[in-house]
Amino acid sequence: MTYSVERIRTDFPALRPRKDGTAPVYLDSACMSLVPDAVLAAMEEYYRDFPGCAGRSLHRFAEEVSHRYERARERLSEFVGLGDPRGIIFLRNATEALNLVGQGLPWKRRDRVVITDQEHNSNLVLWQRLAEERGILIDVLHLPEGDGFDREALEVLLKPETRLVSLFQTSNLDGRSLPIGEIAEQVHAHGTQLLVDGCQAAPHVPVDLRKLGVDYYAVSAHKMMGPTGTGFLAAPFDRLLGLRPLLSGGETVEWSTLSGHALRPPPHRFEAGLQNYAGVLGTGAAVEYLSHLGLEEITSHDRALNARVTRALEGESRVKRLGPDDPSRRPTIYAFAIEGVNASDTALFLDAGHQVMVRSGRHCVHSWYDARGLEGNVRASFYAYNSTSDADALVRGVQELIERVPSKESKPPTGSTRKTPVARRGKRR
Ligand code: ALA
Repeated sequence: MTYSVERIRTDFPALRPRKDGTAPVYLDSACMSLVPDAVLAAMEEYYRDFPGCAGRSLHRFAEEVSHRYERARERLSEFVGLGDPRGIIFLRNATEALNLVGQGLPWKRRDRVVITDQEHNSNLVLWQRLAEERGILIDVLHLPEGDGFDREALEVLLKPETRLVSLFQTSNLDGRSLPIGEIAEQVHAHGTQLLVDGCQAAPHVPVDLRKLGVDYYAVSAHKMMGPTGTGFLAAPFDRLLGLRPLLSGGETVEWSTLSGHALRPPPHRFEAGLQNYAGVLGTGAAVEYLSHLGLEEITSHDRALNARVTRALEGESRVKRLGPDDPSRRPTIYAFAIEGVNASDTALFLDAGHQVMVRSGRHCVHSWYDARGLEGNVRASFYAYNSTSDADALVRGVQELIERVPSKESKPPTGSTRKTPVARRGKRR
């Protein structure tokens, strides 16, 4: 299939031109992606045609939803190269998946976990809490600034008490990726397990968990064209046997008496209570849609857009970009700040003046900004449905803002770039 972004865009209702003829420029897919008609249809079909609960009743609605729910599990297992649907647990998001592993492992006091210094709060706060509650110790791997991975630095941190290494595959902050396959080998050589936050990678690149050798893989489906509040944990079946469920309740047990119960095998022991059936079926439709587009094609498309923006803004001395210099090493994200302009003001200007939606702030990686004394920055993220005119709109908006707001050196002493917009619409995390 030839990759036609014009055709792909017609599948996304949120991208249809508004009454004034303009189409939104959505460059915030790293936070949440848009959903195609196929996903909306799968959810609507559930509510309209067979709105039952899976795995319980025997009537036709229940049979239909049970069948489709398990089919979605199979699809996800194929999508991430796990090859065993029993290793897919449906959850609300990657945060819940990371918590399931973190809180489910049998920690002993003074066991150690290694994380990087560039993790999302979902892969940081959890460990701080476990340090307080269960006495585990956290070792922080400092990544080389911008790009690269220091294997020796990780080696030093892998101690006999290290039970787990938990890190991102692709950073939500600057788009850099870590060599997960090599890290898995290194970690396993020490008898340690590897948990990977795959949120920013799984929507964009082909993932083969068997080849990578990852022990636990956390994903948010709402970053990969799925419905909001959906995600999953993927792990080999035997790894799941070692985790204590985060929640207990209906569907998790084979039987119960007033004095005890027996847990069902994974994945069902981890899916307590009625589930988000519409969301799961929507997630199944999302991965089917993504597979149809082709992950390799999506990666090249992201790369081309990012290269276009990078090239166009290269000459702007006031644009300070984060992450690797080479856009093909951060294909999904262009993170930047304009010298002399507050990041939130930049985002508000782009939205109001150019219909360009980006995220600003610290992107839930507060610790990284804190360590460098930085306020935050602007992040444009690219996905399968973004066009070159989206990229150009971002460039035009940034260039116009630079022209309008003089740099500190040329600004009159009373001038301020922080006036109404941020105060009016508030700050974001
Ligand atoms: N992790 C999400 C983001 O980076 C929320 O925007």
